[in-house]
Order: sequence, then C-alpha cells, then structure tokens
Amino acid sequence: MTHPLAVITGATSGIGAAYANRLAADGYHLLLTGRREAELIAVCQRLRDRYPIEVEYRKVDLAEADQREALIQEVTLLPRLDALINNAGYADDGRFGDVNWSRHQALLDVHVLSTLQLTHAALPNLLRTRGLVINLASVASWLPTPHSALYGPTKAFVRAFTETLALSYRREGLRALAVCPGFTVTDFHARMGLDPASFYRRRGLTRAWSADAVVARSFKDLTRGRVLSIQGWNYRLIVAVLRHLPVRWLHAGLARSDRAR
Ligand SMILES: NC(=O)c1ccc[n+]([C@@H]2O[C@H](COP(=O)([O-])OP(=O)(O)OC[C@H]3O[C@@H](n4cnc5c(N)ncnc54)[C@H](OP(=O)(O)O)[C@@H]3O)[C@@H](O)[C@H]2O)c1
Repeated sequence: MTHPLAVITGATSGIGAAYANRLAADGYHLLLTGRREAELIAVCQRLRDRYPIEVEYRKVDLAEADQREALIQEVTLLPRLDALINNAGYADDGRFGDVNWSRHQALLDVHVLSTLQLTHAALPNLLRTRGLVINLASVASWLPTPHSALYGPTKAFVRAFTETLALSYRREGLRALAVCPGFTVTDFHARMGLDPASFYRRRGLTRAWSADAVVARSFKDLTRGRVLSIQGWNYRLIVAVLRHLPVRWLHAGLARSDRAR
C-alpha cells in the first residue's frame, strides 16, 4: 500500500511538530518545513527512529519570496498529496503605526500569502486524494489585538478563508479545518520574551493546553465533520461568549483593560 503524504509548515516545534508526530503515527510520509535546521533534523530523526515512514525537510523562511516560491513550486509538482498543514506562524508586538512595514509584510507573507499560495498549489492533488487542509488560526481570530496589530486580523482571515474553502469543496470530499487554539505550551510565547514557567496557567479560564491536545482535538473535530476546532472547555466557552456578546461590550471591555495596562 502506498503511504499518504503530508506537507507541514513550521514543524520545528510546538503544534507543527505535534502534527508531524500524529501523522507519522498514522503512516503518512512527511515533508516538513521550518527555519531552524538543527531542530528540523532532530524532528526528522526522531520520527524515522519511531515510525516506518519517509521524512524529508526543507529549510524555508516563508517571509522570503524566493524560498516561499521554491516550496510552492515543489508542492505544485508533487505526484501525490493527502494533507497540507499550514501551521507556521508567530506574533509580532506593536501597534500598527509603531511597526515598520517590512515586519508587517513578513507577518502577512507567513500567515496569509503562504497559506493561500500553498493551498492553491496543493488543491489539485488534494481533490484527487479527497485530502485534508488544516490551517492554524487562533482564538485571537475573534478578538481585536491592538498591541499585536496584524496578529488577530491575519488569524481572522485564515479562519474565514478556511471556512470558505471547506464549504466550497465539501461535495468533492476535501476536508478543511481551521484550528483555533488558545494559549498552548510551545515555543510561541518564549519567542515573545515571556517566561513559559510563569506565563502558562494550569487551571482556570486562561489555562494552557499541550500541542498534542490541540492536535488530538483537531482530528476528533475532523471526524465529526466540523470546520472549526477549539481545544479546551475554557477556550470553547470564551469563543462562545465572544460570538454572542454585543460587540460594543467587547470593545468597551478591551478599552478598559487597555487603560489598565
Ligand atoms: N502557542 C499558542 O498559544 C498559539 C495560540 C494560537 C495560535 N497559535 C498558532 O499556532 C501555530 C504554531 O505555533 P506554535 O504555538 O507551535 O509556536 P512555535 O513552537 O513557535 O512554532 C512556530 C513554527 O512556525 C515556524 N515559523 C515561524 N516563522 C516562520 C517563517 N518566517 N518561515 C517559516 N517558518 C516559520 C517556526 O519555524 P522556525 O522556528 O524553524 O523558524 C516554527 O516551526 C502558529 O500559526 C501560531 O500563530 C499558537
């Protein structure tokens, strides 16, 4: 039997590495991307040691046009593809005008352009295999994020695009899922200079979950035919409130918490 193939962006750590592990356990061959080569090599080696699959990696900075284009070209030419996980992402601090344009452009390239172009390149294969697209959005896709100007808006785009994609191709058997994590224990917050030991809560409304739990939940939601996946009772509750709260109350609450900063 031929193995299915999955492409995962941002597989050096966190949620991307957890997807690599899960899909390897399910028998997928993998093409993994990231910028930190030593970490990519270590992830590939760990997977080869544990599972009878083929794993390759590409060192790709998705904010660099030539590197992104090379990956898109490779994905276009793949003879087969069964799953695409657009996971690479990060948060960039600062109000809109305080951040220079090149940093905004990089975030747009990684979150929006790469997700769109890779999905577009992968679609013919994914339709043939009745495959799977998983795009990493966030609970922040329902929230204005004034101090990380494009994080919330780009994640809102990713979520809306994924919902559109799912509904456009549902009849042809393509499955598309927007994964919307709340706080998750990965390298994400350490990159922002936060101390993981004190930042992540173990209980309460803002408790953090593991990357494995986010991934496990996403496969459960796929099996149920869902288009959105939110790990954790706390984040499902927060999103339910955000979706039903009169928007002026949300804005007033955010303005108040902003004054308290
Ligand atoms: N952790 C959370 O609380 C949380 C919550 C909601 C949503 N998310 C989303 O989940 C996704 C995965 O993040 P994570 O939490 O697993 O964080 P992570 O451990 O920091 O992983 C982020 C991954 O994205 C890759 N990446 C970042 N910038 C890149 C670029 N310019 N080009 C190529 N790859 C790049 C990183 O690769 P290198 O390190 O090799 O550069 C890394 O593999 C992101 O889209 C994030 O926005 C995370």
